[in-house]
Amino acid sequence: MAMRVLSVASEAAPLVKTGGLADVAGALPAALAAQGVEVTSLVPGYPAVLAKLGKKAKAVHTWDALLGTPARLLAGKLGAQPLLVLDAPALFGRAGGPYADPSGRDWKDNWHRFAAFARAAADIAGGAVNGRAFDLVHAHDWQAGMVPAYLKLAPLAGSRPVPSVITIHNMAFQGYYPAEVFPRLGLPASAWTVDGVESYGGVGFLKAGMQLADAITTVSPTYAGEIRSVEFGMGLEGLVLARSNRVHGILNGIDTAEWNPASDPHLAATYTAGKLAARAKNKRALEQEFGLTRDDGPLFIVVSRLTWQKGMDVLAGVLDHLVGIGGRLALLGSGDGEIEAAFLAAAARHPGRVGVRLGYDEALSHRLQGGGDAILIPSRFEPCGLTQLYGLAYGCVPVVSRTGGLADTVIDANPAALAAGVATGIQMNAVTHNALAMAVSRAVELYNRRAAWKRLQTNGMKADFSWGASGAAYATLYRQLIEEQG
Ligand code: ADP
Ligand code: GLC
Repeated sequence: MAMRVLSVASEAAPLVKTGGLADVAGALPAALAAQGVEVTSLVPGYPAVLAKLGKKAKAVHTWDALLGTPARLLAGKLGAQPLLVLDAPALFGRAGGPYADPSGRDWKDNWHRFAAFARAAADIAGGAVNGRAFDLVHAHDWQAGMVPAYLKLAPLAGSRPVPSVITIHNMAFQGYYPAEVFPRLGLPASAWTVDGVESYGGVGFLKAGMQLADAITTVSPTYAGEIRSVEFGMGLEGLVLARSNRVHGILNGIDTAEWNPASDPHLAATYTAGKLAARAKNKRALEQEFGLTRDDGPLFIVVSRLTWQKGMDVLAGVLDHLVGIGGRLALLGSGDGEIEAAFLAAAARHPGRVGVRLGYDEALSHRLQGGGDAILIPSRFEPCGLTQLYGLAYGCVPVVSRTGGLADTVIDANPAALAAGVATGIQMNAVTHNALAMAVSRAVELYNRRAAWKRLQTNGMKADFSWGASGAAYATLYRQLIEEQG
């Protein structure tokens, strides 16, 4: 019989997306179906999700008071896979983002919103919904961090033990709240310990998940190693070390149906590794869209949150150099006000050479990958990173820092790799002005060696970043944990 897994995530493409978590939570269920695992996804009922679900969605369960709030569970589909949506209007029925109000401030009751979400998940996993039983729960990030805590410390009455996995997509976001919220979480007093949900005197949602899940995964092997250090562990490195025999690095894959240049409906011209010339049409379209001068020099692109993590402050400072050596930039992103302002200022200084689009635009992100020559990703840390994988698949050569998943997925065009014909991009060692300026210079030089550049593009396009191997790795891990549970 197929393993039945409940995947718990605060976002899932195409229902709701703020970043890579949605791409992963949206694509992994289909990848696991191919491995004989039936994944049911649970997501919060934000207005956008309820709208996509439609009015006909069936209620399969209700709570009079889920951590104090009425809620119901709606059933639908995520692609071809089963979907459950937690409709709790007091918690999720508001305008704004999944985590923040329209002005960008985190919702004050996020602890309540995501504790209730986790409580619901533990009830569902324990068998609260007629006809639905689960062998394992896969929780993603701090928003689902309390699921393993509820499963272990306050399971649904009468349920049998259900093992859990927590995946860390980003250690920088931990869901840390003051001690005062503890009594309202519906946990026994004994959970208030360092072996439970307590963390540095408060409640740590991610910490709780890492403490109480049966396995911890993160989204690349290199990041799995990095989070043992103070620099990347962000206060939780001790816990990572203490549980290191339970920590696994499993690289993200990409949804090859969604991200395929041969069939991408967003592109002016589709193409394959064998017909790269067709990309030129997409580049011309981008130049027009971003108001850039038309020439044969390299067009760099960015599709990113504009934050410190992504090294975007450093990039803003390197643009005069980039333009000075013949490059152009088309940027799509949003984030920190200061960084946004720095890019707008660079665009004003370099009309026709730097084009900036502030905002979030899924279709434009595809057009950028399909027409840009190189994508810049100078992250200070990067648990996995998906945009370099999309770049590789689209022949948009990644220029990246050597960290996390960027280190694991891009082969630097050093002389040995070029001679062996295996390079796929450019890596830099440090996220500094000089290192990034040098990486951009290397990209321009290589771009001008047309045959070598074409080889970089085709190597990336032919590499396999589909979910196959990683889906199998998750399935193996699930199986082990279920057997262990007995
Ligand atoms: P992170 O999750 O840390 O932001 P990832 O590289 O894992 O980084 O995933 C980012 C995802 O969000 C990718 O699918 C990327 O294309 C998308 N994305 C980021 N910024 C934008 C934007 N401004 N408009 C459209 N898509 C974006
Ligand atoms: C996080 C990370 C990113 C990763 C994504 C999906 O947002 O910042 O590196 O690719 O999660 O796992």
